[in-house]
Amino acid sequence: MKKFGKTGALLALALLMLFAVACGSNNASNKDNAGNSAPANSKDSGQAAVDKKVVLGFSQVGAESGWRSANTDSIKESAADAGFDLKFSDAQQKQENQIKAIRSFIQQKVDVIAFSPVVESGWDTVLKEAKDANIPVILTDRAVDSKDTSLYKTFIGSDFVEEGRSAGKWLVEQFKDATGDINIVELQGTTGSAPAIDRKTGFEEMIKSNPHLKIIASQTGDFTRAKGKEVMQSFLQSNKNINVLYAHNDDMGLGAIQAIEAAGLVPGKDIIIITVDAVKDGMTAAAEGKINYIVECNPLLGPQLMQAVNDVLAGREIPQRIVTEEGTFTSAEAKTALPDRKY
Ligand code: AHR
Repeated sequence: MKKFGKTGALLALALLMLFAVACGSNNASNKDNAGNSAPANSKDSGQAAVDKKVVLGFSQVGAESGWRSANTDSIKESAADAGFDLKFSDAQQKQENQIKAIRSFIQQKVDVIAFSPVVESGWDTVLKEAKDANIPVILTDRAVDSKDTSLYKTFIGSDFVEEGRSAGKWLVEQFKDATGDINIVELQGTTGSAPAIDRKTGFEEMIKSNPHLKIIASQTGDFTRAKGKEVMQSFLQSNKNINVLYAHNDDMGLGAIQAIEAAGLVPGKDIIIITVDAVKDGMTAAAEGKINYIVECNPLLGPQLMQAVNDVLAGREIPQRIVTEEGTFTSAEAKTALPDRKY
């Protein structure tokens, strides 16, 4: 002290105070509301959220059809494009596996849970668990029948009843001059699933306008090619005069075509075939005249889902229902559209 004198001591004190103030202000700007570190140049605590990857837990139905594979690809690609950390789980068409996956997402404290429910019923308990954990849920592709719509933020997907109506409407037009009975067999999707219930409802609603259009057999083919073939074989064995096949998806229709050909009949001519989806294999069969009419069901839901995740996390209002746009294809239209078909 003696060596530097009074002025030196005051200067040292001032420097010390300046250093303390600078450190204090740095600490304030480097922490977000939760006390997490943020870059020194961050403008506000939101920067911390930007730097942290959004974690999205997604429970997929399975890999039962071409449509499902295209849907899975779309979800994975869009999540990567959005920079999300995607936790993907395949339920192998079992509800209990989806419930387990959702519970594991809750435990892992993901930011958002999305899933395509294999069946409509039985979700309330697990959805309440997600809500209690403050994790928003988004439904894609298939709906749930929960009365409490606060259990999920939105449902993004097709209008399956409308798809069934489109199929029925086309058939009514084809047989408007029929004077005798037209025997229809129906291959339903997975029992209890929204598309199986709704595609049947919409189809029946339309065909009832013509009493000649009769569903003589209806059974599930679980949306798979193998089951579609197996069930069509049994339809052909027990019904001599089948005029129309309505299959709830392309894959079951394609399996049924194998059974029809094996029985020595010509698909698309001896039996008129209507399917739903419009995936590449279905469109190819339609272009060849084996499927007469396809109602489109769009599997490319990934971009809409990622947008909804961002909106929900940003606290933006989103509609409770987001309906996917889709079309229909006759054989001729399928032939034209096929070269550009992506999936
Ligand atoms: O939920 C959509 C349906 O599920 C598709 O039509 C079918 O192919 C899929 O398995």
